[in-house]
Amino acid sequence: MKDIVPAPPPVVRNDVAAIQTLFQQNVVPSYGRFDLVLSHGAGCSLYDITGRRYLDLGGGIAVNSLGHAHPAITEALAEQSRKIIYCSNFYYHEPQGRLAQALVSLIGPGKCFFCNSGVEANEGLFKLARKFGHDEGRFEILTTLNSFHGRTLAAIAATGQEKVKKGFAPAVPGFRHVPFNDLKAMREAISPATAAIMIEGIQGEGGVLPATPDYLLGLRRLCDEKKLLLLMDSVQCGHFRSGRFQSYQRILEAVPGGETFLPDGISMAKSLGGGFPIGAFWVRAPYADLLSAGSHGTTYGGSPLACAVALKILEVIARENLAANARQVGAQFKSRLEELARKYPAIIQKVRGLGLMLGMELAPAMPQLPGDPAKTPAVRFINLLHAAGLLAIPAGTHVIRFLPPLNLRPAEAEEGLKMLESVLANLV
Ligand SMILES: Cc1ncc(COP(=O)(O)O)c(C=O)c1O
Repeated sequence: MKDIVPAPPPVVRNDVAAIQTLFQQNVVPSYGRFDLVLSHGAGCSLYDITGRRYLDLGGGIAVNSLGHAHPAITEALAEQSRKIIYCSNFYYHEPQGRLAQALVSLIGPGKCFFCNSGVEANEGLFKLARKFGHDEGRFEILTTLNSFHGRTLAAIAATGQEKVKKGFAPAVPGFRHVPFNDLKAMREAISPATAAIMIEGIQGEGGVLPATPDYLLGLRRLCDEKKLLLLMDSVQCGHFRSGRFQSYQRILEAVPGGETFLPDGISMAKSLGGGFPIGAFWVRAPYADLLSAGSHGTTYGGSPLACAVALKILEVIARENLAANARQVGAQFKSRLEELARKYPAIIQKVRGLGLMLGMELAPAMPQLPGDPAKTPAVRFINLLHAAGLLAIPAGTHVIRFLPPLNLRPAEAEEGLKMLESVLANLV
């Protein structure tokens, strides 16, 4: 296989402090950033501006589906931008029509709406639910504890985590949360005002927690019985990350009747554009025309450029069989993580996830980690991984997430595991 490790920067600079100062002086400090200043990469390899290489198993939080600087993405961007980068949604163009067709054929009968991010896709589904329930006075959407649905006012109201809501009261009305994977709690929470239920197939920010097959099938039955929309936020867990296009397809594949399961709406973003901003939602056929002309829109959504990139990514995933790769390399990575959990039980409490969406939960009573005690154990552990040359993503206070590109090679997974083990061995 072609070696995709990139060359270091031709001119190595140590402008880390100067660039960080630019941020401190000019950028709103709404992110807790790690100390790295990145320069360029290829595949799963990234360089910082000092010339140090990292293995990127965080994948931009499940965004870089084909890794960094994939030539097919570069080519699609160049080719489409020579024709037309943007035209308003007053007009038709081929890439948006073709992308909608591709997503519908991967999910099921329905239609798609295009936007620019995950939170916008969810916002569209919230509006769909309100429109659906409007004539009966129903507006409420039930979501789950520890969910994450984005950062707009409606999305923080939908998100089942107090920390994202703090300081932004009053909350957008019409959202309530119940425990995840608890069908009984969901049934009991339904009120005469309820119009929809939204869940993630695999909770991402909540710590990589897959829905159980019984939960998914039970929610479908419950929504049919109570005339509710079943909405799935697939922004993080979708796009073949689990080994199937949608995580529910993977979770239900071995379950009798599972292949016929279909939600009523699905939000997508992240891996859909591989780093180029694009979001989308799919809505099942009976509800596909609820959002009629003039009821919803966005200037940039579904631009020719964004859609051309998303189409190219789908083409590469199919041609290179990356769904199977996510499944196989993910299974190998997970079983090696489980071995490490057995070898280092004082540090690793649990390993969870499907395909290339994996979480490693740190034990609550693990040895004291070096670093700022004000930071969570997950953040301090990630800092140790960085020092070993590995990028991964924290979730909550104790979970380390691996969300690498779908074309991760077995040798790269092995390299990452060796770096991880060097950190673990130093802690005991
Ligand atoms: C499950 C889920 N939904 C929604 C979002 C929001 O997506 P975006 O940041 O693109 O708005 C995220 C982002 O992490 C997510 O993980």
